[in-house]
Amino acid sequence: MDFSAPRGMRDFYPEDMILRNRVFDAWRSAAVSFGFEQYDACVVESLDLLKRKAGEEVENQVYAFQDKSGREIALRAEMTPTLARMVAARQGSLQFPVKWFCIAQCFRYERMTKGRKREHYQLNLDIVGEDGAAGEAEVIAAAVCAMRKMGVPDEAYRVRLSSRALLSELLDKKGIDAKFHSGVFIALDKKGKMPREEIEEILRADGLGDEECAKAFDLTDISSLDEAAAIAGADSPAVARIRELLSLLELYGVASQVVFDISVIRGLSYYTGVVFEAFDTKGEFRAIFGGGRYDNLLTAIGGKPTPAVGLGFGDVVVGELLKSLGIADPAPKRDLVAVGYMTEAQRAAATRLAARLRGDGRNASLQLRPQKAKQFFAAAGDKATHAVYVGPDDEQAGTARLKDLATREQSEIPLS
Ligand code: HAM
Repeated sequence: MDFSAPRGMRDFYPEDMILRNRVFDAWRSAAVSFGFEQYDACVVESLDLLKRKAGEEVENQVYAFQDKSGREIALRAEMTPTLARMVAARQGSLQFPVKWFCIAQCFRYERMTKGRKREHYQLNLDIVGEDGAAGEAEVIAAAVCAMRKMGVPDEAYRVRLSSRALLSELLDKKGIDAKFHSGVFIALDKKGKMPREEIEEILRADGLGDEECAKAFDLTDISSLDEAAAIAGADSPAVARIRELLSLLELYGVASQVVFDISVIRGLSYYTGVVFEAFDTKGEFRAIFGGGRYDNLLTAIGGKPTPAVGLGFGDVVVGELLKSLGIADPAPKRDLVAVGYMTEAQRAAATRLAARLRGDGRNASLQLRPQKAKQFFAAAGDKATHAVYVGPDDEQAGTARLKDLATREQSEIPLS
């Protein structure tokens, strides 16, 4: 019998839950502190919904199957199509903009590399119904807030930001027809992950000539927003939008975290405007979080046109980063009282005492069997902050022995 989890899937033992909960707590508290409301959905989604955004990497990675009635379903690979479906279902009654977050387990049949599993949890922060740069600013600032709540120093990572709208304008200037742009985005996103010749082959298969391929590649060498602006022209809406966003981020107190990087394009096809990805500064890990504006997804799945922006923030890479920074230490022991008793005769008194402690709002873990005092106090130290013990003499005197397991100080408390 092999006791390991299926390849790419993780087991979370109690000690692993400490780090996971720390990450989830930071995510939740950052999202709530920015006024995002929580939503959720089932991990099983209809394959049809996922197929409607055909032609991208994630689709090949979907765990799909038929249920017993022959319905084509899948484990969600990301939350965004589900979010779009849920918003579309209530488009007439929702008060826009909506600011929603969720912590969703996602499944992708990926090649197993560092930072990539076949299952991961993702914080999703999305704002639907807002087309202004404030939307991007909110989700980026909330993600930075989550990083700070986890204790990650600002200098440990940067959010690299660009815009597909800008790249489109630049491709226009280079004479590359708009019908090629979405193909160019997906192909250029592979730069650094695939040899240039293979990317050029994809572009040529899309219909681009050699000269156009070279021009598209040249754009990824642009090293600053000013350089991009010089090509895009003084009246470029995309450049103005990025500048507006950068000044908003200044007001949020997170501008130091964000840098312009034309090579950020993102692999998902639904992005339309600003796109961004956070990476550790040492360049050791994969993307920590990523997202962007996707103004056409609602229409693509059959809803009314509605602008949207959001991000996904995975638990795997940030967990690796916390470990490498030496800040993944277990959280301080939670407040827990272990309750023990010497013989079967004291079980009732100890059980009542544990119930009273819980009634007072404490956490109490009652021993399931009688135990000698020495063993009980020794074992309690591993899990609890306090220990309460009832022996026959204690019971007779109507008291229990209370020990603070940190200071080892002992006192008596009344059983009542
Ligand atoms: P994504 O870039 O595919 O975007 O994933 C977002 C984050 O999820 C990544 O930056 C990474 O932290 C984590 N992640 C993705 N795949 C894996 C994997 N196989 N193993 C471990 N971690 C992984 C999206 O999913 C978009 N739906 C995000 C979004 C929300 N855009 C708008 N709203």
